[in-house]
Amino acid sequence: MSLLKIGVLASGRGSNLQALLDACARGNIPAEVAVVLSDCSDAYALQRARQSHVPACHVDPAAWPGREQYEQELVRLLQAHRVGLVCLAGYMRLVGRVMLQAFPDRIMNIHPSLLPAFPGLHAQKQALDYGVRFAGCTVHFVDEGMDSGPIILQAVVPVLESDDEASLAARILEQEHQIYPRAVDLFARGKLRLEGRRVRILE
Ligand code: GRF
Repeated sequence: MSLLKIGVLASGRGSNLQALLDACARGNIPAEVAVVLSDCSDAYALQRARQSHVPACHVDPAAWPGREQYEQELVRLLQAHRVGLVCLAGYMRLVGRVMLQAFPDRIMNIHPSLLPAFPGLHAQKQALDYGVRFAGCTVHFVDEGMDSGPIILQAVVPVLESDDEASLAARILEQEHQIYPRAVDLFARGKLRLEGRRVRILE
């Protein structure tokens, strides 16, 4: 089976990028990370990519007159690396029309809550403050909204009496690192079929 080329967009630490790099390197999924792009010059994700000998590039949004031009540059780079799936991994910007049209149903995101609960920033703190007993994470296709696209996989994590934001986030992150490579694997093997809002997993 030929390898699906993934482009990863990240703004920071890049631990989900690392999970994808590791899964690809182990041969666990029929994919390879072809390029990593970041809107932040000091994102640790860029270093992780270079350590794995993956092309890594800082694309400065401020260098472009608007989001459309910035995204046209992202699309140019992703297409130059023949990317078939874009994975957002801690990418702190909303994706706009240019990216969505260039990669229809080919952009995924990971979010640290059981969507549709707690979209947006500080999802783990939102869950704690609300008082839910179960939190978790979600891999979903990206649409024009905030964390609102069709759900691919979710993992559930119990909230413990002793939890603070950091301990809950750490327990959720372990699950993120499991389900993101699994979702990419399903996509790469052609096992995901989008039916309206529902994502069917074919086996
Ligand atoms: C993760 O919690 C992810 O769910 C969210 O941003 C965080 C990124 O962490 N979208 P990392 O950069 O992958 O370590």
